[in-house]
Amino acid sequence: MASFQIRGGCSLNGEVRIQGSKNAALPMLAACLLSRGETKLYNCPHITDVYNMIKILENMGCSTVFCGDCLTVDTSGNLSGVISMGDGASMRSSIMLMGAVLGRQKYVSLPWPGGCSIGKRPVDLHLKALEQMNVSIRSDHCGLECTTPYLQGKDICLPIPSVGATENVILAAVLARGTTTIHNAAKEPEIVDLCHFLNEMGAQIHGMGTHRITINGVKQLKSISYTVMPDRIVAGTYFAAAAATGGNILAYPVKEKDLRSVLDVFAAMGCGIIIRRDQLQLIAPPLLLPVESICTRPFPGFPTDMQSQLMACLTAARGTSVICENIFEDRFKIVPQLEKMGAKILVNENKAVIRGGCRLTGSCVSAQDLRGGAALVIAGLMAEGDTRVEGSGYIERGYEDICRDFSQLGAGICRL
Ligand code: UD1
Repeated sequence: MASFQIRGGCSLNGEVRIQGSKNAALPMLAACLLSRGETKLYNCPHITDVYNMIKILENMGCSTVFCGDCLTVDTSGNLSGVISMGDGASMRSSIMLMGAVLGRQKYVSLPWPGGCSIGKRPVDLHLKALEQMNVSIRSDHCGLECTTPYLQGKDICLPIPSVGATENVILAAVLARGTTTIHNAAKEPEIVDLCHFLNEMGAQIHGMGTHRITINGVKQLKSISYTVMPDRIVAGTYFAAAAATGGNILAYPVKEKDLRSVLDVFAAMGCGIIIRRDQLQLIAPPLLLPVESICTRPFPGFPTDMQSQLMACLTAARGTSVICENIFEDRFKIVPQLEKMGAKILVNENKAVIRGGCRLTGSCVSAQDLRGGAALVIAGLMAEGDTRVEGSGYIERGYEDICRDFSQLGAGICRL
């Protein structure tokens, strides 16, 4: 597998453009199946998760063209409801196709979803909600087979505000009979973007961005052109890299309200934040301050997808910080890798105590998941000497070209 070679000790400075959002683009690609025609997604990121989703759609019978940042998906033909083992098992978001494929053709068969190894990641909430909506589900060790005579709108109460389950129910509900109300829905900005996309297609969704989303089923949707929102986690990662290296970067386009909890933490660590419309600038202090305690939570709380990058930054802070991971149980896999570089981190269940103030040293480390991999790149930038981050494929699942972007900001980084 390819790796990244990083020369430590450079601070990141300059301007950087932020790619389209992975977590918005993926469910939108599933949503394309709900219309029969050509949908154009602008600002669609060139990342392997999107390429894998394209492969799944093509194997189902769609045709796609990716030109510049515009991905065109043609869903006008007859499609198969079968997602093959190799396709679906490679990525978590294949589960997102369930609601959309059932909405279109009442039958879907798919393998158990794959993805990053950041925790058990069950799909029980997706399945329970779809069963309530009149879907029969059979499962074995290989995968799932789902059928429905018609989807029926229902009141769905989610015990936890799962992002994926909220999106799957929305995708199933837009063409269902009657009204669906999701109680305790997730409020993430990517869900709001998905709902705007669907409403432009002709769906009737209200309450997105709140804990109660109502979907009035409609007979059909039309194909449209839409621009995917910027990726708040990529922006947050780049800000973390600037903060960790004593840098000063301006990122655009970024929605400040989508990144509020992350910016608040960087501000508490002593960073200056300047907000200008869709541009955000972060100016790092000479020495970062520690954070007393930061807990990952559903939006608008601090995102679990930024936890590893923050941990890398805090190894350089002037004192001890505490991070609590409340969403995914295996998100501390990065700790032994950071320790290899000289970090002092004590993990007790879902709590990590980071003793800051040590200078990391370059080493050969291994990415085990997408965001942890990005955090190791940040650690490499902070370190004295050279670092090799193996497993760049994990990072390329969600970052278009982290080498291009960090090089442009002054880092010494290349892909081997
Ligand atoms: C999405 C994001 C991911 C992000 C996560 C949390 C995408 C493609 N991925 O993942 O980047 O880290 O939200 O913000 O958008 N759970 C269950 N049963 C289920 C579903 C979830 O117990 O059926 C649990 C999970 O194990 C986890 C919690 O609910 O502990 C939240 O997971 P969820 O919000 O569903 O995350 P994803 O949609 O998988």
